[in-house]
Amino acid sequence: MIEAGTASRVRVVGIGCHPGQLTAEAREAIAGCDYVIAADKGGADAGADPLLALRRAICADVGTELVAVPDPPRDRDDPADYEGAVRDWHDARAAAYASVIGRRPGTVGFLVWGDPAFYDSTIRVVDRLRLPYDVLPGVSALSLLAARHRVVLHEVGRPVLVTTGRRLAAEVAAGHDNLVVMLDGRLEASSLAGDWDIWWGANLGSPHEELVAGPLRDVVGEITAARARAKDRDGWVMDTYLLRRG
Ligand SMILES: C[S@@+](CC[C@H](N)C(=O)[O-])C[C@H]1O[C@@H](n2cnc3c(N)ncnc32)[C@H](O)[C@@H]1O
Repeated sequence: MIEAGTASRVRVVGIGCHPGQLTAEAREAIAGCDYVIAADKGGADAGADPLLALRRAICADVGTELVAVPDPPRDRDDPADYEGAVRDWHDARAAAYASVIGRRPGTVGFLVWGDPAFYDSTIRVVDRLRLPYDVLPGVSALSLLAARHRVVLHEVGRPVLVTTGRRLAAEVAAGHDNLVVMLDGRLEASSLAGDWDIWWGANLGSPHEELVAGPLRDVVGEITAARARAKDRDGWVMDTYLLRRG
């Protein structure tokens, strides 16, 4: 995808969920990059992308230039072919990044929120560039959730399924009873039948993170209120939870 003969390499760097969680290894990798590429999801509204602002702050602190690339639009209206729509979006992202790297060869960093291994497409997009790359792990929201609640994500010798709000009902119907749920803006767990315990957290790593734990049916209202509070205070909200059949 990048013109032949262009000497570039890419570093995909997990940055954790808070600037304080940047590992020494990640910091060193960012400092060694010629520049960092970051998607700008703010559209016409410059400054409307808080995650871009966070990446800018990290780069300014480390002393590495950040090049913001407008994020191609994505079909989010529940397209019939969801996976096809995501694939097209990844292709469009890769093309936008390739055009920058083609013009500016060098060591290029991508800063990934949390850990690149969980619900993030950066590795898939970078793979399309056909350049050498490596990946550095970061502290994922799910590690942070477990640490804040001081729980192990599974019972002794048992599995945990990591899934999305969109898939939760189907996974429970398939018999899963110990799940970490990400990407769930609607607290899909609240529609489940049966007895469940929940360990929930929002904006983990931020100064005002919210935590709620208890029997699901007793704490749904508390979670809804805490979610709204986090959004009001920080201007954004991201939440994750562990759900276990009681
Ligand atoms: C696109 S995924 C990125 C996950 C990320 N790669 C990781 O390892 O945490 C975004 C989802 O991760 C979870 N998440 C990310 N940051 C979070 C935070 N600070 N607090 C709680 N959940 C978070 C939420 O479920 C959110 O919808």
